[in-house]
Amino acid sequence: MPSKKVGVVGCGTMGAGIVQVCAQSGYPVVVSEINQELLNKGLASISTALSRGVERGRLSQEDKDAALGRIKGTTSIKDFADCDLVIEVAIENMEIKKKVFAELDATCPENAILASNTSVLSVTEMAMATRRLDRVVGLHFFNPPPVMQLVEIVRTILVSEETLEFSREFAKSLGKTPVVVPDTPGFIVNRLLLSFILNAIRMLESGVASKEDIDTAITLGLNHPIGPLALADLVGNDIILFMAEGVYQNLSDHQFIAPTLLRRMVSAGQLGRKTGKGFYDYKK
Ligand SMILES: NC(=O)c1ccc[n+]([C@@H]2O[C@H](COP(=O)([O-])OP(=O)(O)OC[C@H]3O[C@@H](n4cnc5c(N)ncnc54)[C@H](O)[C@@H]3O)[C@@H](O)[C@H]2O)c1
Repeated sequence: MPSKKVGVVGCGTMGAGIVQVCAQSGYPVVVSEINQELLNKGLASISTALSRGVERGRLSQEDKDAALGRIKGTTSIKDFADCDLVIEVAIENMEIKKKVFAELDATCPENAILASNTSVLSVTEMAMATRRLDRVVGLHFFNPPPVMQLVEIVRTILVSEETLEFSREFAKSLGKTPVVVPDTPGFIVNRLLLSFILNAIRMLESGVASKEDIDTAITLGLNHPIGPLALADLVGNDIILFMAEGVYQNLSDHQFIAPTLLRRMVSAGQLGRKTGKGFYDYKK
């Protein structure tokens, strides 16, 4: 597999992590950003993460240099012209993703596989922006990609068995464990996680328990590393709201209706760690 060339569109939080994992697994990788500044920022974050690995004794200086040597940055989609697989990791916006897929379809070799790292959007809809319906798949990595073991492989109703098999082998070659999931909103993990977080917010909202008690009960009672409200702050309350609205729109399942408290917090800019305040205060 590492003889294959991988492309990654977007070098933000997830893109940078995915590029790092691919390069450390021996793949030549080309990664794109919308401008040179963001590209430099993304590439610097990969270099910093690898340096941290060297400091902590998790990889050698030679391995770090070799991984960095396999990564090429670009601001031109034309540099994906010889990729065997391109993973789209742009922001969670269907119009932007469809535009990226149409451009990749026009640029990449006919037999190349195009994948999306979307968390909740329909991969089938992205496939429809291309002329290679059987070679578009979801490859959903988890944050942070170098650490998290799972990859959800999203099976559209159009994808071929060959593409799924390639995706499984690719995920395994990165040292990950793949599970194949249908193209339904939130797939497995985010669908269950969302309902869990929304119920925790409803529990707080209706006064059943304090935020501290909810999080303590879940961390100690279920052995979760972090409680649902602290996790919402970590993911971003705006992202939780966006996902809830997307899943509710698609499934019309009442458990995904966003609680009023969540909506008000997002309106008030209480997005969690990134704004210094969410369910908890991070300014101290
Ligand atoms: N953050 C998470 O925890 C997480 C986890 C799993 C999946 N995802 C999914 O991964 C995707 C990316 O999320 P993120 O958190 O890395 O977002 P991010 O905002 O950190 O990064 C997205 C990057 O894509 C770039 N971009 C946008 N359009 C582009 C284009 N046309 N070409 C090249 N680059 C482009 C942006 O400049 C930005 O740097 C989303 O679909 C998200 O739902 C996120």
